[in-house]
Amino acid sequence: MQVISVKSLEKIYANGVRALDCVDFEMKKGDFLGLLGANGAGKTTMISIFTGTVNKTAGSVNIFGIDIDKDHNSAKKKIGVVPQEFNFNIFEKVIDIVVQQAGYFGIPRKKALKNAEKLLKDLGLWSKRNNPAKELSGGMKRRLMIVRALVHDPKLLILDEPTAGVDVELRHSMWEYLKKLNESGVTILLTSHYLEEIEELCNDVVMIKKGKIVIKDTVSHVLKSIDEVTYVIDVDKVKKTFVAHNFVYKIIDENTLEVRITQKHTLNEFLRILDRNGMMISNLRPKSNRLEQLFLNILNA
Ligand SMILES: Nc1ncnc2c1ncn2[C@@H]1O[C@H](COP(=O)(O)OP(=O)(O)OP(=O)(O)O)[C@@H](O)[C@H]1O
Ligand SMILES: [Mg+2]
Repeated sequence: MQVISVKSLEKIYANGVRALDCVDFEMKKGDFLGLLGANGAGKTTMISIFTGTVNKTAGSVNIFGIDIDKDHNSAKKKIGVVPQEFNFNIFEKVIDIVVQQAGYFGIPRKKALKNAEKLLKDLGLWSKRNNPAKELSGGMKRRLMIVRALVHDPKLLILDEPTAGVDVELRHSMWEYLKKLNESGVTILLTSHYLEEIEELCNDVVMIKKGKIVIKDTVSHVLKSIDEVTYVIDVDKVKKTFVAHNFVYKIIDENTLEVRITQKHTLNEFLRILDRNGMMISNLRPKSNRLEQLFLNILNA
């Protein structure tokens, strides 16, 4: 069953900006897809077309087999959306924001209250239910957006930068929550600037650049195809006489080196050379997340 099917999608805004250009992709039930792209690449435009806040210029979008040109309302009922910007009334109470959203989808009040209670508890907001939303911290507001998106039990969840401005600990707990949700059968599409987030959560990745898809693949396949990783190595002291032929490396300071490992020579070989030169290794880490490196390569291509 196709959850999303997008064909030849195009969006040209009134000011002439071509935000999406001939985009094709599909998502199946249970997929967890990461949509990647630099600022202005077209991610929010795409999501907004799915959720009905932006009209497409050309192409077709089917959601759960429903053509949005024919019956967008039925399609929308199956989608939960966490937009990039907070868009609830900050003067309203947390519980009211959630229950009203359920009402919008025609869920009876009793059931809405039950759903709201479960979700607010799951996301650690139950104790704040009677506070106006303006009293929530930024991270709590993000979680409220997730609660509100899930209150009508959607089978497709779309999140636009869900963990922007969320601290590391909370981000990890949100990841756990999203993973469980996906395991329970909810198909998830998210955009993120944290490449680590996509690597951690998603099975598939779509990368867009200036409105066009440049990569559409599984995350594991994309990671395998990355044949170059830069490592940062801390040592007790870099010897003045140190040379490693056949390697591209940089001495950063007297305790740190950076080496670019390609498929020709392994990291182990480089570490052995350090060892032979009497340098003690105290730490070793990739310079950046691997997807991040690929992303930068593509952006600068
Ligand atoms: N309402 C609008 N009117 C005119 N142009 C717009 C409008 N919304 C977005 N754009 C333009 O369309 C392009 C894509 O914008 P979009 O918001 O989809 O990017 P994005 O990938 O979500 O970026 P970000 O990572 O910054 O959120 C940009 O050039 C943007 O300036
Ligand atoms: Mg955006």
